[in-house]
Amino acid sequence: MKNKMVYVGMSADLVHPGHLNILKKAQELGEVVVGLLTDEAIATYKRVPYMEFEQRKQVIENIKGVSRVIPQTTLDYVPNLESLKPDYVVHGDDWKTGVQQKTRQRVIDTLAQWGGELVEVPYTQGISSTQLNKALKEIGTTPDVRLKSLRRMLKVKPLLRFLDIHNALSGLIIENTSIDTPQGKREFDGMWGSSLTDSTAKGKPDIEAVDVSARMTTLNEVLEVTTKPIIYDADTGGQLEHFKFTVRTLERLGVSAAIIEDKTGLKKNSLFGTDVEQTQDSIENFCLKIQAGKQAQATNDFMIIARIESLILDKGIDDAFARAKAYLEAGADGIMIHSRKKDPAEIFEFCRRYNTLENRKTLVAVPSSYNTVTEDELQDHGVNIVIYANQLLRSAYPAMLKTAQSILEHKRSAECDADMLPIKDILELIPGTK
Ligand code: SPV
Ligand code: MG
Repeated sequence: MKNKMVYVGMSADLVHPGHLNILKKAQELGEVVVGLLTDEAIATYKRVPYMEFEQRKQVIENIKGVSRVIPQTTLDYVPNLESLKPDYVVHGDDWKTGVQQKTRQRVIDTLAQWGGELVEVPYTQGISSTQLNKALKEIGTTPDVRLKSLRRMLKVKPLLRFLDIHNALSGLIIENTSIDTPQGKREFDGMWGSSLTDSTAKGKPDIEAVDVSARMTTLNEVLEVTTKPIIYDADTGGQLEHFKFTVRTLERLGVSAAIIEDKTGLKKNSLFGTDVEQTQDSIENFCLKIQAGKQAQATNDFMIIARIESLILDKGIDDAFARAKAYLEAGADGIMIHSRKKDPAEIFEFCRRYNTLENRKTLVAVPSSYNTVTEDELQDHGVNIVIYANQLLRSAYPAMLKTAQSILEHKRSAECDADMLPIKDILELIPGTK
């Protein structure tokens, strides 16, 4: 009699006894083929796995009773099931509820076409990937792992979502906030070390007056309590000779990327546009700065992204595009295109032209003024990273101002109490306060 074929789909990033239990059951039923979810497939519904596909494959291939490991490129089992037509699919019974419910039903329906059967193994109590992930977060990360994580995410996710930091608490919000959606957990992929919000939080103008040492202090605060990648807003990068030191410091800290803007002289915030005097650097000079930064970095993983200010300064798309080409040739790992228009038309136009470049690299957009654009639209135009550059600080400030005014008005705090976090909650907000 022909051996029965048993299909098991899994991510197997943090392999635990629950996985072994499922594989044991599968082995009792026949020859086990594991459909190992690719990094891209996992990233569609939860965070990017710690181990890459090839590493996870090596682990699973060497587990007793596994005869073959093949990639499963979608969360949906159907394509693999249709090509293999297995007799059984074995899965933990925890997918009867939650985001995987629909996937489960499709497995049942597909197997029914050739009389296959779904066998569900009772969920192993006391251990799960979710718990292990939580524990890992508590242990923290190393600069090396954090630095590399941005490139890994870019490889497997079509669009990354970043939000501004200006202190450790803002970092914690980005680290821990998530919502459940029908497609899985949605969260921020990383943090934007904004010059605007860092300067503002320090009560200083956004003109490179907060020096690099002070900016690093903020970063250190955030790094201490988070694990997600950071993209650092390096303003103009300063003098070319100074930029080299900034790059080395950022790498040492575990920051993943620096974005430098092609302006020169006294930097003013881009969103002023032509209301203030701002000078764009020459293409030649700026390319030298990019090259100096690239030569200074000690790892292959750190990224230097060139920010083009042509649209901010009304120099037009042709100028922006010429600069994009030159900066990529100079070695930039990506381009950030900025705009202060209310609608995204010029950004989309730039994207269309940028996407024709053969050596096209990561594209970053910052929809502060064209804020009605959706992430899906940006992704459709080829944007790889969307940065919400200042929203956390902009929402904190009015709330604090309102409280201060209310106390002044009422000569007590009772009237604003309902707008605030209860005392008990603030005491418990940071673990270890008790
Ligand atoms: C920042 O957040 O500091 C930026 C983006 O550089 S912008 O403020 O739009 O210039
Ligand atoms: Mg800035």
